[in-house]
Amino acid sequence: MPATAGIRLRDAGDAGDAGDAGDAYTNGVLGHGRTGEYERLRLLERVSDPATVRILERLPMTRSWHCADIGAGTGSLAGWLAARCPDGQVTATDVDTRYLDAMPRPGNLTVLDQDATRGSFPPASLDLVHARALLTHLPGPEKVVRRMAGWLKPGGWLVIEDPTYLPAEASPYPEFAALLAACGRLLALTQATDTTWARRIPAAMAEAGLTDVGMSAELSVCGRDEVEDAYWRRSFAQATPGLLEYGLMSEDRIQRAVGHLDEPGFADAAWLMVSCWARRR
Ligand SMILES: C[S@@+](CC[C@H](N)C(=O)[O-])C[C@H]1O[C@@H](n2cnc3c(N)ncnc32)[C@H](O)[C@@H]1O
Repeated sequence: MPATAGIRLRDAGDAGDAGDAGDAYTNGVLGHGRTGEYERLRLLERVSDPATVRILERLPMTRSWHCADIGAGTGSLAGWLAARCPDGQVTATDVDTRYLDAMPRPGNLTVLDQDATRGSFPPASLDLVHARALLTHLPGPEKVVRRMAGWLKPGGWLVIEDPTYLPAEASPYPEFAALLAACGRLLALTQATDTTWARRIPAAMAEAGLTDVGMSAELSVCGRDEVEDAYWRRSFAQATPGLLEYGLMSEDRIQRAVGHLDEPGFADAAWLMVSCWARRR
């Protein structure tokens, strides 16, 4: 097995093995120990938080809600929830809490080192469970949705958000679309990532017995916004060693694809961030 990027190829036996989900992520392309990952996640927050906050603001949230942000990353949403629910309690979980441990924390925000495929909360204990850009990386995301639904109090809300790519063949920039597809392929090879999962979230929520299921999406556009482009440049740089290691794309093609971001007229869709919400009866 090639080893230059130090990224372990997922064994066939890993499929559906929840025990390896956290390790596969932590040791993978997006692991928190990777150079630049902290900055990449901060950029993701700047790109994605506004749409997430709009969705959370539509819920009947009170000051005393008990909330959990699962796979909380660098913690901006957990911090937002803690400020929004000062008389409540917010738990931010992650399989690697190094970024959460470092953030300033109000008294009602707790950090928990927990693998979402194994860890648990007491049944019917939470008013809100939120997870963004997490379930797409987990084996058996439907099962995780069922478990999260069980943590909700009657009337509590589950909000799940995950990205999904648009068809590569529809892009007028084949090389750029190929780079996005190759990144998705790299994540699928090295961890459990399924970039098609997002479309199945509403069905998974309904199957988990939840009601009032809703769905919306925010288009991520490359080439038009400084912060969004910085996020994608960081992501492509981080993926490059793995793309080369697994022969998914040559260095020349990667450079040409990334070079589009410097062209004044360039704009292409990167992904749809799909947001879904549902309530426990
Ligand atoms: C792409 S980041 C998203 C971070 C944050 N939710 C956001 O949207 O800004 C995915 C996060 O999930 C965490 N994660 C990955 N696998 C996990 C697992 N099995 N259990 C809990 N957290 C996990 C990662 O460590 C990382 O912080």
